[in-house]
Amino acid sequence: MEADRQNGCIGVFDSGLGGLTVVRRLMAELPGEDIVYLGDCARVPYGTKSPETIRAFARQDADFLMKFDPKLIVVACNTASAHALDALSAALPVSVIGMVEPGARLAVTFAGPGPIGVIATEATISSQAYPRMLERLQPGCKVLSAACPLLVPIVEEGRGEDDPIVLAVLSDYLRQMQRERPTTLILGCTHYPLLSGAIGKLMGPATRLIDSGWAAALAVKRQLTQSHLARAAGGGGTLKCFATDNPQRLSLLAQRIMGRAVEVNWVGTDELTCEKV
Ligand code: DGL
Repeated sequence: MEADRQNGCIGVFDSGLGGLTVVRRLMAELPGEDIVYLGDCARVPYGTKSPETIRAFARQDADFLMKFDPKLIVVACNTASAHALDALSAALPVSVIGMVEPGARLAVTFAGPGPIGVIATEATISSQAYPRMLERLQPGCKVLSAACPLLVPIVEEGRGEDDPIVLAVLSDYLRQMQRERPTTLILGCTHYPLLSGAIGKLMGPATRLIDSGWAAALAVKRQLTQSHLARAAGGGGTLKCFATDNPQRLSLLAQRIMGRAVEVNWVGTDELTCEKV
């Protein structure tokens, strides 16, 4: 029975391709785990939607993954983590790990007394999830926040870090951050690690970038190890991907992110269950 649970997969979802940056980290940290990924490409971006819609979509995504009998669910989307994590944790019979707490914990570890920056979607920034979590972990710390709504569509379009449009948009969003010089900058959206080279160049070497997805992968590893549910390397290591729209497109972009061919299957949004949180 315990072995069955151990052999269960990890379910991971995001609004689109950003969560694959988390999958990449999970596969590096936990090479023996089977992963099932859902990218809700038909409804991306989540970051401009209302909290109610984000919660409803997140519940449908998680319900779809529950069909694979996972041992753990990763909400590989900061926006869904900010708005739906508590509700998902209360509703689902398995552990649910989001991005915000692990990202904030890692940032605090490296920040020292300096300010901590957070860049994220509009919905994540307006939720105040990061400032609240950072205040809990390091009372009195100064938090600088910036919403970067154009970055998700830019990344979903497959634009690279050297693209002049990417650089122009980043320069505009990061202007204030550059002035205030945070010691750490949380990439509070799982799409942003795909732009980390350009963000790092603009911020300079004094600012350490924090990949919330990497932090979450470490949290997953800890959780599975503590609950004796981790699989040793050489076990599974498979990746099954689903997209609610245009699987060929996600497959192409996934190949760039994962550095290997990734087959993506289509699943209609009407096949995700529609229960509200
Ligand atoms: N990757 C999601 C996040 O981490 C993007 C949200 C969106 O779809 O706008 O927030």
